[in-house]
Amino acid sequence: MPVIKVSDLAFGRLQSPSLDEAEEFLSRFGMVRTERTSDRLYMRGTDPTPFIHVTHLGPSKFLGLGFHVDNEDDLRKLAKAPGAKGIENLDEPGGGKRVRLTDPLGYQVDVICGQRAVEELAVRKHTVNWGYDKLRRAGQLMRITRGPSQVKRIAHAVLMCQGAKEKTRWYREMLGFIPSDEVYAGPKENIIASFNRCDRGDTYVDHHTFLCFEGPNTGLNHLSFEVPSYDDLMLGHEYLREANKYEHVWGIGRHLLGSQIYDYWKDPWGRVHEHWTDTDVLNARTPPNLLSAEEGLVSQWGSPPPQSFITHAIP
Ligand SMILES: [Fe+2]
Repeated sequence: MPVIKVSDLAFGRLQSPSLDEAEEFLSRFGMVRTERTSDRLYMRGTDPTPFIHVTHLGPSKFLGLGFHVDNEDDLRKLAKAPGAKGIENLDEPGGGKRVRLTDPLGYQVDVICGQRAVEELAVRKHTVNWGYDKLRRAGQLMRITRGPSQVKRIAHAVLMCQGAKEKTRWYREMLGFIPSDEVYAGPKENIIASFNRCDRGDTYVDHHTFLCFEGPNTGLNHLSFEVPSYDDLMLGHEYLREANKYEHVWGIGRHLLGSQIYDYWKDPWGRVHEHWTDTDVLNARTPPNLLSAEEGLVSQWGSPPPQSFITHAIP
């Protein structure tokens, strides 16, 4: 049994040399500022969560991840785990409490609960008349407002390291992640990537929330954010491209594992941020799959990942 079961990813925590440049990129990527101080920037999506992305001022660095739990009992249990700090008040937008851990790679993990919700932001909807469901927009014209994607929520985080299997075990034992798909290279015991989801019993959750894969570098491979529709993802792609200052990494395509339609961009310091829409959702009853790298790490459509992305990690 794991120590606790987290209910979702809460935020990614990065450090950046310029809060102005960070805010400019994240706004263009489709997040909205919640709060900015002289040395912190908090950004949100349209969901009623006060922040999903934190930037500390300082040299470029990945600092860690935050996860939600549903109640304080879980924090009390976690506070007794090896290496855990005690329960602290969270001095960040929305307040609440947290327990801090250090993961096996040395990154900070904040497990939080009791954060005050904020008002959901209005979302422009794009209703589509697909061939098999042709009357969803009956009598209405499609007229799209151009602009950034409307980031809804943070969805998953991907780390790269050596000994990914062991590192993943820590996340499972501490935070209750369960495997959706595992990918091997050569012998079947040689797991090189592990796609993990939250265990929320019968409730359906995203195919993966935490993924760790084997690679030559150590650190953050990417943070990933859900957007509400394919049109929204494409609008965001054009809006980032029109800025003429951000590097496009990979996409647009549809993953096999998780099935998301994806689009990957680098921020000014090379940290990869992904937009996706339309994921597989599973509950705790779905058994894990084991696939070879050739079978699993492919796209259902769209180009294969560039080599630079497969080896990419920011410490
Ligand atoms: Fe991703």
